[in-house]
Amino acid sequence: MPHKQQAIGIFDSGSGGVSVAKALHDLLPAEHLVYLADLAHFPYGDKTAQQVQDYSLALTDYLLAKNCKMIIIACGTASSAASQLLRGYLATEKIVVVDAISPVVQFVKHRYQNQTIGLIATPRTVASNVYQEQLAAADITLHAVAAPLLAPAIEAQLSGEQHDYHDLLAFYLKTLPKIEALILGSTHYPLIKGHLEQYYQHSMELIDIAELIAQAAQKVLQEKNLLADATQIGTQEFYTTRVSAALQQVVEKFFGSHSLNLCELNHAKI
Ligand code: DGL
Repeated sequence: MPHKQQAIGIFDSGSGGVSVAKALHDLLPAEHLVYLADLAHFPYGDKTAQQVQDYSLALTDYLLAKNCKMIIIACGTASSAASQLLRGYLATEKIVVVDAISPVVQFVKHRYQNQTIGLIATPRTVASNVYQEQLAAADITLHAVAAPLLAPAIEAQLSGEQHDYHDLLAFYLKTLPKIEALILGSTHYPLIKGHLEQYYQHSMELIDIAELIAQAAQKVLQEKNLLADATQIGTQEFYTTRVSAALQQVVEKFFGSHSLNLCELNHAKI
């Protein structure tokens, strides 16, 4: 049985999930966080569902070995391919999985009935049709656009390359018809929320999935009586399968100076 003093495990293909770790830390500063980035296999957006499932299982095993009480899939792409698989995998140990799509679907269902909204996400997430399936019963029209170059551009920019986001965003977003709001369907996108706001000149409602994922995690921890004692000060550990200046930069921006620990994943299929 998981215990409230154990850490929360968070994984992503890269630096985007740090936006979720940050939102979680803002809500629940007493929680210990263990973050794992699979930069050796980044980006997940152009991989097959089977590959993303294999990576996700290996990452989950690593976080379990770190004694985590909950796994947050802080990656839209891994959520679209592997959330059901991981829930089944962890069910006997009663470890809760929070994914990056269900909390967004819940929010959208509540807020955008009878409206038309957009989704920008990786090719794998869009191809999975998970959003469309989960919204099928709701009276919401969803238009999705796959943005294969956007998350890689964000990783590159964080490690020092210059990018003109306006042209890249225009290239993808111009294909969408009139929408009331846009789901930022990758955890990388909250990292460039300012550029998106500028692109839309602050006239579009941007749905920040990092905040919604963090709120969903808080709710489940409360329900299961697994919140850490509020008197404790949460710690953060960061692991990655490949050294990256981008990850270092985003970690320092949100959490101050921290060293990154290099890890190797063990998985037969990888
Ligand atoms: N952070 C990943 C997501 O939320 C996107 C990056 C990738 O393609 O690996 O979908």
